[in-house]
Amino acid sequence: MNIEELNLKDVKEIAAMESKYIYYPYSESVLCEILKNPNCLALKVVEDGVLAGYISGQFVIDEFNINNVVIKEAYRRKGYASALLSEVIKECQKQKIKKLYLEVATTNEAAQQLYAKFGFKFSYERKKYYGDQSALVLIKSL
Ligand SMILES: CC(C)(COP(=O)(O)OP(=O)(O)OC[C@H]1O[C@@H](n2cnc3c(N)ncnc32)[C@H](O)[C@@H]1OP(=O)(O)O)[C@@H](O)C(=O)NCCC(=O)NCCS
Repeated sequence: MNIEELNLKDVKEIAAMESKYIYYPYSESVLCEILKNPNCLALKVVEDGVLAGYISGQFVIDEFNINNVVIKEAYRRKGYASALLSEVIKECQKQKIKKLYLEVATTNEAAQQLYAKFGFKFSYERKKYYGDQSALVLIKSL
């Protein structure tokens, strides 16, 4: 398993993963804009040449906002999301980031368990953030 930088040639594939696995997916054009942002950090996990998952987010002064972590179904529970998150946290520590934050759907128990394991704490709820679903804002202080 390798962790590599995500680049624009991966956009089609990650847009397809967003549509398949994310309740409120980013479109291909939004993903392009995210990746072109110089403050973006986006990584992929590659297993035997297959893009198994990715993470992306932005540095905002002394904070880092995680957009999404997505792992293809066949590659889950192998520690890949954890490996991506660990790499992001390592980079944030290098860049003296004080807080990481993210939104997660109230019904997404798998992701909530993952973030709890990494020390993210509930901050507040954004009602109907994903249309009919609410989001929890989680924060991890470094
Ligand atoms: C959430 C997701 C990213 C986890 O990816 P993963 O590679 O399977 O996660 P890991 O193997 O690193 O698991 C780390 C921990 O997360 C938790 N976890 C992961 N999947 C879980 C599940 N289905 N149920 C409960 N806890 C889960 C566990 O605590 C796990 O540790 P353990 O395996 O030692 O019990 C993956 O299920 C996914 O892509 N889901 C769809 C997209 C999504 O919802 N992304 C988050 C958007 S905010």
